[in-house]
Amino acid sequence: MLPAQPIQYSESRKVFLLTTRDSSYAFGVAADGAPRHLYWGAPLWRIDDLPAPAPRHDISSFDPRQMLENEEFPGWGGPRYYEPALKITRQDGNRDLVLHYVSHRIDGNNLEVALKDIRDDVEVTLHYRVYPDYGILRRSATIRNGLAQPFTIESAQSAAWYLPPGDGYQLTYLSGRWVAEQQINHEPIHEGEKVLESRKGHTSHNFNPWFAIDDGNASEEHGRVWFGALAWSGNWRITVEQTPYQQVRVTGGFNSFDFAYPLQPGESLETPAFYAGFTGGGFGAASRLLHCFEREQILPGGAQSRLRPVLYNSWEATTFHVDEAGQMALADKAARLGAELFVMDDGWFGARSNDHAGLGDWYVNPQKFPRGLKPLIDHVNGLGMDFGLWVEPEMVNPNSDLYRNHPDWVLHFPGRPESELRNQLVLNLARPDVKEYIFGVLDKLATDDHIRYFKWDMNRSFSEPGWPEAGPGNERKLWVDYVRNLYDIMDRLRARHPRLEIESCSGGGGRVDLGILQRVDEVWPSDNTEAFDRLRIQERFTEAYTPKIMSAWVTDVPNMNGRSTPLEFRFLTAMQGALGIGANLNKWTEQDFATATRLIALYKRIRPTVQTGDLYRLASPRTADTTVNEYVSPDAKQAVIFALRHSQQYNTAAPAIFPRGLDERAMYGVEALDGKLAEKQPQLSGAYLMHAGLNVLLRGDYDATAIILDRQ
Ligand code: DGJ
Repeated sequence: MLPAQPIQYSESRKVFLLTTRDSSYAFGVAADGAPRHLYWGAPLWRIDDLPAPAPRHDISSFDPRQMLENEEFPGWGGPRYYEPALKITRQDGNRDLVLHYVSHRIDGNNLEVALKDIRDDVEVTLHYRVYPDYGILRRSATIRNGLAQPFTIESAQSAAWYLPPGDGYQLTYLSGRWVAEQQINHEPIHEGEKVLESRKGHTSHNFNPWFAIDDGNASEEHGRVWFGALAWSGNWRITVEQTPYQQVRVTGGFNSFDFAYPLQPGESLETPAFYAGFTGGGFGAASRLLHCFEREQILPGGAQSRLRPVLYNSWEATTFHVDEAGQMALADKAARLGAELFVMDDGWFGARSNDHAGLGDWYVNPQKFPRGLKPLIDHVNGLGMDFGLWVEPEMVNPNSDLYRNHPDWVLHFPGRPESELRNQLVLNLARPDVKEYIFGVLDKLATDDHIRYFKWDMNRSFSEPGWPEAGPGNERKLWVDYVRNLYDIMDRLRARHPRLEIESCSGGGGRVDLGILQRVDEVWPSDNTEAFDRLRIQERFTEAYTPKIMSAWVTDVPNMNGRSTPLEFRFLTAMQGALGIGANLNKWTEQDFATATRLIALYKRIRPTVQTGDLYRLASPRTADTTVNEYVSPDAKQAVIFALRHSQQYNTAAPAIFPRGLDERAMYGVEALDGKLAEKQPQLSGAYLMHAGLNVLLRGDYDATAIILDRQ
C-alpha cells in the first residue's frame, strides 16, 4: 500500500517521507534546526510512524554529538570530522559552516529544502525528486552566495546517503582500465573510508560512478541492496565511510581533489544529480530498476526513443585508411547483411593518416574524398542506411593547423611541458571561444552533410589542467565548466538537429555515466571486442546500465588477445546489446555472410525484448562454464535466453537453465537456434520452464545458442 502523495510532510514533527514503488526515504528537522536522516529502505506508508530526529548527546569530548547525528547535508564546521557535503572558505579566511533549515516547498514529486548557515547568508537548496514508478530518488544541491563578499567552494557534494545503523555491509563497485572496463569488486565495508573517483577530467575507465551496498546476504535475485549513480562526466567522487558509531554514509558529487570554485555575491553552483534506490530483490532487481529508469527518464527521447539500429563501423576493418571507394564497398556489403546505420570512423579529415596528425582540422581530406562526403553519404542513404561519422572534438594533435593557430587553446600551465598522450592534447572546453569553435564545427557537419549520428570519441585524460586566461582564483572552475560546456554543446546540437544521434566513446568505456546518458543514444563500453572478454565486460556494464545503450560489435578473429571464437558465438555475444558489426567484410566468406544475415534477421526479431526488456543474469562467465542471460519483454510476451558455453570439461552437460519472469500459467512456444536444446516439445508451460528448467546442447569450447520463448 503506497501513500497517495509521493512526498509527505508532518508539520508537527517536521518530518519528510519520500516514497516510491520500491523504497522510502525519510529525514526530519531536529530541534536545533539541522536536517537529519531518518530512514532509507523498503516502502513505508505512514508518516506518523516516523519520530522526529532524537536529540543526541556527546559521548565524550572526543566523540561529540555532531559525529552521531546523521546530518542530511553536513557543512564543514563545528566539531565535525567526517566527509562534509559542503566546505567553503570565506574571503576573510573564515571556514566554519553549520547549515540549518529555513523553509521548504513541495511541488508534486519535487521537494526543495532551503538551508542557511547559522550566522551568515551562505545558502543551500537541497533538491529532491521522487520517481514513484521507477523506485528512484534524485538528489542535488544548489549553493548560493548571499554574502556581500565572494567565497570559494572547496567541496560540493550532491548528497549524503545513510544506510540503516549496523555493520556487516558489503560494497560492490566497478573498476577497470582500457580494454578491461567494468570489472566487479565486492568487499566488506570496514571502519574507515573507501574512495571511488576520477581525477582524470572525464568519467574514466578506472572507476565508474555507481555503487551498490548490500546487507551482507544479498545475491543476484535476493536480498536488500541500496544503490546509486552520479550524473557527472568529469572529476567525480563517491566515498563510503563506516564510522566507529555504526554509521555507513555514502557521499558523492564533485571531486574535491584540486577543487576550488569561487562564487561572487549572488552567484550559485548546482551539484550533479545523484540518483539512488533500494530493493529487496538483490542485485538483479537493482539493475532492472536502473535500466528502466535510464531508458524512460534519462536517455534523450525517454520511452519514445527509437530502438538502436544495427550498425556497421569501419574502424577495425580500415583503421585510418578510409577513402570513398573503400567505404562505399564496405557499405554495399553492410547493407547486404541488414545493417541500418553505417559509421565511418577515424581518418576522414585533415592530415589524418595515423594518430600523429590532423585532430582539430575538421575538414574533409581532399585526397581521400576528392568529391567531399556527399557522394558517400548519398550512396549509404541509397542503400537504405543512415550515415554516421566519427569525431573527436575535444582534442588536437600538435601537428595540426588548429594547434598552430591557437596553441593557447589547450589545457596547459605556462612554461611547463605539455604531456602528449596518443600524440594529442586536450582543448580547453571551459573557454567560451573553444566551446563555440567546437559547436560550430559539429553544427556545420550536421547541417551541410546531414550527419545523422556522431560517434563522439575522447582518447585521453586531462593533464596539466591549467587555464591561465581565467584569471587568478578562477583557474580551477575548469573542472566544472569544461563538463558543463561539453553538455551544452551536445544539448544545443540536439536541439538544432532533432534527428541527430550521438554515441559516447572514450577509448572504449571512459565516459559512461548518467550525465552523458542524458545527451547520447548509445555508448561504446570497451575497445575490447573479443567475445569472451566482452561477455564479462558486458555482464558488469549491465549492473549499472541498460543493454539498450551497450554498443556491441562482431569483429574479426584472432582478436586483440589472440583468441578465436566462432562467428556465431561472437554474434550471440553482441546480440545482447545494441548490435554492431565492426569486421572487415572484404575478408568474409559467403558462409560468413550467410551466418551473419541469418543472425541479424533474428536480432531484429528479438530486438525490442533485448533493448527494452527486463534482464536476468542467470549464470555468470566468472563463475560458470556457460554464460546465461535472459531478457523478458515488458509485456512478458517474449523471453530470449542467450547461452554461451566457453569451456566444456570432462564431457559434462551444460548446467540446466531456469528462466525467470515468466507467467507460470501461460504456454510458451519454444525455439532454439540450431536446435541446441534437449527439450524438443514445441510448447512448454511457464511453470515447467521456470521450475524444471531447460537443457542446452552445447559442447566443446565457444558453443552458443539463443532460446526464444513466445507466449501463446
Ligand atoms: C578509440 C575508439 O574506441 C575506437 O573505436 C576508434 O574509434 C578509435 N578511437 C579511432 O581513433
